[in-house]
Amino acid sequence: MANQEDLFKNIISHAKEYGFIFQSSEIYDGLSAVYDYGQNGAELKKNIRDYWWKSMVQMNENIVGIDSAIFMHPTVWKASGHVDAFNDPLIDNKDSKKRYRADVLIEDHVAKIEAKIQKEISKASERFGDKFDEAVFRSTNPRVVENQKKIDEINNRFKNALEKNDLTEVRQIIIDLEIVCPVSGSRNWTEVRQFNLMFSTQMGSVSEDAGTIYLRPETAQGIFVNFLNVQKTGRMKIPFGIAQTGKAFRNEIVARQFIFRMREFEQMEMQFFVKPGTEMEWYNKWKEARMKWHRTLGFPESKHRFHDHIKLAHYANAACDIEFEFPFGFKELEGIHSRTDFDLKSHEQFSGKKLQYFDSDDNQNFVPYVVETSIGLDRMFLAILSQAYKEEKLEDGSDRVVLNIPPMLAPIKCAILPLVKKDGLPEKAQEIMDVLKYDHLCSYEEKDSIGKRYRRQDAIGTPYAVTIDHQTLEDSTVTIRERDSMKQERIPVDNVAKIVSERVDMRKALTQLN
Ligand code: GAP
Repeated sequence: MANQEDLFKNIISHAKEYGFIFQSSEIYDGLSAVYDYGQNGAELKKNIRDYWWKSMVQMNENIVGIDSAIFMHPTVWKASGHVDAFNDPLIDNKDSKKRYRADVLIEDHVAKIEAKIQKEISKASERFGDKFDEAVFRSTNPRVVENQKKIDEINNRFKNALEKNDLTEVRQIIIDLEIVCPVSGSRNWTEVRQFNLMFSTQMGSVSEDAGTIYLRPETAQGIFVNFLNVQKTGRMKIPFGIAQTGKAFRNEIVARQFIFRMREFEQMEMQFFVKPGTEMEWYNKWKEARMKWHRTLGFPESKHRFHDHIKLAHYANAACDIEFEFPFGFKELEGIHSRTDFDLKSHEQFSGKKLQYFDSDDNQNFVPYVVETSIGLDRMFLAILSQAYKEEKLEDGSDRVVLNIPPMLAPIKCAILPLVKKDGLPEKAQEIMDVLKYDHLCSYEEKDSIGKRYRRQDAIGTPYAVTIDHQTLEDSTVTIRERDSMKQERIPVDNVAKIVSERVDMRKALTQLN
């Protein structure tokens, strides 16, 4: 079995080899941190988006979806605070000339100490079996206690530095922790500087009247500026939500880890508008609901955890991440933020227009508070891909790579395979394909041995393969092979659509969310 680093490399090459993800503009040697989704990637991505959209918009009568433009009036980004404060602290290593995010260097250092704690916990849990009590162990084991103390000290110091915007202190933390550049191995660091992450461009045909506008760094602002439009035209009553999915752009300083941190990516965001004073109740409800959404996909419980933000953004009164254990460790997958009335109030000030809700029960106007759930579609894609990727040794000694993608999200639901390319089998298979394609995205393949074709379908995560052989011509039966168990069964061809439908139906997952 490959180690985590090799495993991650294998996942990246698998994603390319099987048409999931390509580097953007590859023939020109690529564009850093920008990726294209291939034929299978586009399907998987669409299915994840559908699952999110249905669970938000279709399953909740008080949530509606919109699709706002990427370009927005430049003052939007002034009001939201992005022009002045959407910065990352960057630091360069003078020897390697490599640039890093100072906060990420510190967070990675903390993650290494956390990994030591986890190792102690796993060892002890194995030793003590059912009797193991993690909370007691954490509070009594001297090595764990000492490491936890180190983490708390670093986090406190870092939080204070960020709150005071004290970049000299951020640099000093890096120096004191003896963090070295992974490339040069040296501690020869520059000062820490702030770097704004927004991309800008010019709108207008001639330079004199062209104005600077930004590519949106989050989709949320398109929701805030449409708050009253949607509330009034949809006759929405508080509490209610507005959801949207779409592209966002950030000029990330360090773009690493494949599609984890991209410069162009897609977000799935929902702003839930509530009565002031009720926001913590909704914040906790949405935390729970979002975790359930992830777990319904069949991930082991240990793969996700909550992580409270060390430093709250200027607009938030509570915020946490749902972290996922990627092959490179636990990292942020989704953010849940209680954003107060900051955004709506700020847009009121900058636009001079009222963005208030009239509560007919109390006969009063107020600016609602907002609880936001925000997840990166590409990160969710990576979570699913890295969890699904399995290198298996089979009983007969052969190897197979399979993607155990939840069937409802699989790019292709059923492969249609004539056993041989003659005797009327391709024609019969095509006939079956022509019926099934109305229900499911199917793939027809007649080239190579049936074994090779099964392996190819396993590698893209197709839950079912249907083989058409000579018996099919006599009695209209086919063999259906299930991806995970590799079990084959002979069934009437008329049953195929029903079997596939039952397994790939999103309904089961959506039902569990309620
Ligand atoms: N509206 C709130 C907001 O944008 P965020 O924590 O900056 O919050 C939300 O981003 C989510 O968007 C993250 O949890 C992550 O999944 C995704 N995301 C952020 N930056 C990303 C990037 N550079 N590449 C891929 N996904 C990213």
